[in-house]
Amino acid sequence: MRRSALDFLGGVQSMSLTQLSAILAAASQPLLADFARAHFIQLYLYAHRVCGLESGVYKLWPEGAELEQLASGEQRVAAAGLSLGQFLAGNAWVAFSMIGDLDRAARADGDRGYRYVHFEAGAIGHRLYLAAEALGLGATGIGAFYDDEVHRYLNLTPEQGRVVYHFAIGYPVPDFRLCAADDETRHMPVHRQRA
Ligand SMILES: Cc1cc2nc3c(=O)[nH]c(=O)nc-3n(C[C@H](O)[C@H](O)[C@H](O)COP(=O)(O)O)c2cc1C
Repeated sequence: MRRSALDFLGGVQSMSLTQLSAILAAASQPLLADFARAHFIQLYLYAHRVCGLESGVYKLWPEGAELEQLASGEQRVAAAGLSLGQFLAGNAWVAFSMIGDLDRAARADGDRGYRYVHFEAGAIGHRLYLAAEALGLGATGIGAFYDDEVHRYLNLTPEQGRVVYHFAIGYPVPDFRLCAADDETRHMPVHRQRA
């Protein structure tokens, strides 16, 4: 039943801080993989609607499970704009920039370092997908974003890393593909199911 959310219900409803904490804990678990001897990804959050957390931009320090607030105020337009104008990043309850330390990865692993950063981002993304799903929420990986604008918005120098992946979690809009999943027509092409 897990599908990428097509969009999220904007509105004023919110997720709880407990839900966000569970999602961040899942994302911060060690990865059991040969490419994951070191960690190169840092999560930045655009908190839109989290009950108990002021709207703003945050940096996650996974070691202490701490969120450092970098900016306050509504981030919906910014998150959508930075994500190549995709509204779902603003309609979500929380959106993410994954910032990869490409320089450190290259020093540690040479040419493979670039790939390892992306492997790690992808693995974290899938943890976010599963954690959101387990909480009855929806998620969407976002591979389209304006790199330079993200770096400027987050005040990142090249030494601090480069954006490699965006992500959004919220309450998903109805998805007709899932409504038909238990239906006897589930093996039919999607356009037939809709008819
Ligand atoms: C790395 C990655 C980047 C993605 N980028 C976007 C995106 O920019 N915009 C979007 O609407 N969906 C994006 N998606 C969601 C994909 O469209 C979706 O995962 C794909 O259609 C497969 O569908 P499923 O996740 O429901 O199985 C992305 C997914 C991944 C894994």
